[in-house]
Amino acid sequence: MNQQPDTPWGYKLSAELYGIDRWSNDYFGLSPEGKVTAKTLNTAVPLLDIVEGMFERDLQMPVLLRIENILDAQIQRLNEAFRKAIKEQNYQAAYRGVYPIKVNQQAQVVEEIAHFGSRYQHGFEVGSKPEMIAALSTVEEPGSLIICNGYKDEEFIDLGLQAIRLGFLCFFVIETPAELPIIIERSKALGVEPMIGLRVKMNTKVSGHWNSTSGDRSVFGLTTTQIVELVDLLNQENMLHCLQLLHCHLGSQIPNIQEIRKGVVEACRYYADLIREGAALNYIDLGGGLAVDYSGSQNNDEQSRNYSLDEYCDDIVDTLKHTLDEYDIAHPTIVTESGRSTVAYSSVLLFNILDTTTFEPTNLPNTMEDEHPLIGRMREIYDYLNPERVQECYNDAHYYRQEVRELFKRGQMNLRQQSVTENLFLDILHRITALLDKVEHSSIDLNDLKSSLSDIYYGNFSLFQSLPDIWAIDQMFPIMPIHRLNEEPSRQAVLADITCDCDGKIDKFFVNQEVAQSLPLHPLIEGEEYYLGVFLVGAYQETLGDLHNLFGDTNVVSVRLNSDGSFDFVKEIHGDTIADVLSYVEYEPKEMQLRYRNTAERAVREGRITARERQQTINAFNASLQGYTYYEKES
Ligand SMILES: Cc1ncc(COP(=O)(O)O)c(C=O)c1O
Repeated sequence: MNQQPDTPWGYKLSAELYGIDRWSNDYFGLSPEGKVTAKTLNTAVPLLDIVEGMFERDLQMPVLLRIENILDAQIQRLNEAFRKAIKEQNYQAAYRGVYPIKVNQQAQVVEEIAHFGSRYQHGFEVGSKPEMIAALSTVEEPGSLIICNGYKDEEFIDLGLQAIRLGFLCFFVIETPAELPIIIERSKALGVEPMIGLRVKMNTKVSGHWNSTSGDRSVFGLTTTQIVELVDLLNQENMLHCLQLLHCHLGSQIPNIQEIRKGVVEACRYYADLIREGAALNYIDLGGGLAVDYSGSQNNDEQSRNYSLDEYCDDIVDTLKHTLDEYDIAHPTIVTESGRSTVAYSSVLLFNILDTTTFEPTNLPNTMEDEHPLIGRMREIYDYLNPERVQECYNDAHYYRQEVRELFKRGQMNLRQQSVTENLFLDILHRITALLDKVEHSSIDLNDLKSSLSDIYYGNFSLFQSLPDIWAIDQMFPIMPIHRLNEEPSRQAVLADITCDCDGKIDKFFVNQEVAQSLPLHPLIEGEEYYLGVFLVGAYQETLGDLHNLFGDTNVVSVRLNSDGSFDFVKEIHGDTIADVLSYVEYEPKEMQLRYRNTAERAVREGRITARERQQTINAFNASLQGYTYYEKES
């Protein structure tokens, strides 16, 4: 219910409400001035300062903000956590991380991972030829791992063999039996011995959104029969020593640590038996799955995880050590392909609110003389509106409103009468909502009432372009204002984007440690901008985004925070222009300019506009083609 605040409010209450300290992994916080800050290097920089810096550089909202220090910090945390676990448990081999390029293929991200990750020899996982080319041209350290997953043709394999020649540890992970003969053939042709891995189809089935990569029906990986055939073929070719890596991937965003442990135990069984078969295995690649706690609830539901990074690393090292020690098998190098957790935290989508719609009664009129009896019945509801009869009042209000709507359709009631009815209806529903706290058991209808009365805040962004997983798979991200957090947010709202598509909305939010159907927000202030941030969006969102309504890529800004609290704009990419997005769908901007010129020239010939006006309209058309696809405020 939208109410005026009557309690003193401070940034700590906002922090609690939006849960920022629970989901931010210590990368974001609130300042006493009520602003969201990005925190690294013992300093905290208000995002609003960065936004102001963007405007000075003519970068408008919406913008995807990347904070490079966070990317670096995540790589460091992962590698150091494994190092610590290995040391503490006296595990006899090392950890080597790889970043799966598909999780965010943007060059700036991949280059930063290669650059910072080189101190840990952090490598790449690639699933296609373009990703392979991206990895080969970016990775800095020979000796880094390049793990090739996905179906590989001759060209893909040749690229990998050349990479081995250059000193990279480039593994072909066999996903299907058909790949091996090509690998054997190409390695003979090029005279390079291949490094082979095999991906097993795991029985361990994990929960969460992304679980189809595990279990019997998983489309990836080799069955035990196929593994045996593969071993036999390698043996026949005297190449069993090339089989050095075992790969398994249970899925992404695995919320439950126990499932990860079970998966590792199963992987160890395959590992041990393949060693017995004579394979020279010395790497075990456990794929992705390290989850991000989007909700901050630290439990095993699909938007969260019930473990910390340290626990993840400790449990993997512990399970590998104890399981393999039982089989008396040397410890392998541990590889993981963490994508989501590496990049999610470093990107924030920032946008401004353009407008709001509220569902509040306005100008409730007094009873008119000759008022229609149905409106009178609606007014009578006020007489019996109390906690015991809220459901009845709700039903009656709906009934009378529907009757009035029917009469309006048949021309038996006029527009003003219908407007009075709608206003009374809204007023009654708001009063019912205010009573709900006193009602012991309420129906689904009543429970949904609050969200059905919430405001709509229109944000300058496209869900389909920037947050596709919200639409496609009901993924949730933490969303909150980035300023005014010293004021109580007195409105309840859902968010709509500017795509004019009914699916372009967000109506599920993390609020007060629960999933809510509306988000507490501040009322807009005339003449002032209001900015929201969608956090933890660095993984999977950028390349999955589509051109729905032809809203293109947003502006992207990469900043690096300094220890003195200042920050540098290290990179920026202006988002797509209108000409860009039109050319993606096969329009020819030059030809469009020509056609518009001809239309304008004809208007001159036919006396509808002057030659000078023709030039003005052509200039405006051309300028628009070079403009941003999102809503731009006049500067
Ligand atoms: C083979 C493979 N490795 C790694 C990943 C990345 O997983 P995550 O983002 O959970 O780290 C995926 C994604 O599903 C994958 O398919």
